[in-house]
Amino acid sequence: MGLVPTLGALHEGHLSLVRTAKACCDAVAVSIFVNPTQFGPNEDFALYPRTFDADCALLAGEDIDVVFAPAPEEIYRAGAATFVEVEGLSQRLDGASRPGHFRGVATIVAKLFIAAEPDRAFFGQKDAAQIAVLRRMIFDLGLPVELVVCPIVRESDGLAMSSRNRYLSQQERQQALVLRRSLDAVQAAIAAGERNSETLIATARSILASEPEVRIDYVAAADWATLLPVDQALPGTLFAVAAWVGKTRLIDNMIIQ
Ligand code: PAF
Repeated sequence: MGLVPTLGALHEGHLSLVRTAKACCDAVAVSIFVNPTQFGPNEDFALYPRTFDADCALLAGEDIDVVFAPAPEEIYRAGAATFVEVEGLSQRLDGASRPGHFRGVATIVAKLFIAAEPDRAFFGQKDAAQIAVLRRMIFDLGLPVELVVCPIVRESDGLAMSSRNRYLSQQERQQALVLRRSLDAVQAAIAAGERNSETLIATARSILASEPEVRIDYVAAADWATLLPVDQALPGTLFAVAAWVGKTRLIDNMIIQ
């Protein structure tokens, strides 16, 4: 049984997770739940696109077995005092700018695992820090679930697919391409022999700065297991960027070869 946990507002990135699950599992469940505990007080929980009918229409084309779309009160009991927190990791990268986010993610994913008892769960590499947190949670709690990471799916112009891309104005949509360009520049520097993280980070920052309307949140070269910074961007290193384009926070990354 394969589980594809989602917040809904499904796009081709989610469908690629579903198709990967379908290819290697007898049964596939997709959860759709806009999880309140992973949104900070000033974040977009209220605004987050809720497109349940369109999501179901997309999934109808994929021959899956279950759509699990619980109401919040089915998931969180009133006054619940129990959360799952992966210490340390949850405060790094996205966790540094989104306090409490990874506690919410670990808690809901643990709850979904308890409800669905999947053998495998499928997540996109775009949320690379989330993957590190969940891998550690699965390991520390000894959960019998294999976490499968699926490649980032991009629009034809290179923008990583995200439900939040629909917040972007036409102009912001163009500006957002700078995230991918910054990763391409880092890739080119690595191909030319550069491995020093500081230099690579400076390269990405200078490309991001070429779009004055884009505000950098972080640029990091990190160990993908610990999310701690590394001095040298060796094979397996996570190179990740996060930036605000207008009011929308976008992330992108690559695993260095
Ligand atoms: O990556 C997401 O969409 C969410 O964080 C997840 C894993 C569905 C948990 O709510």
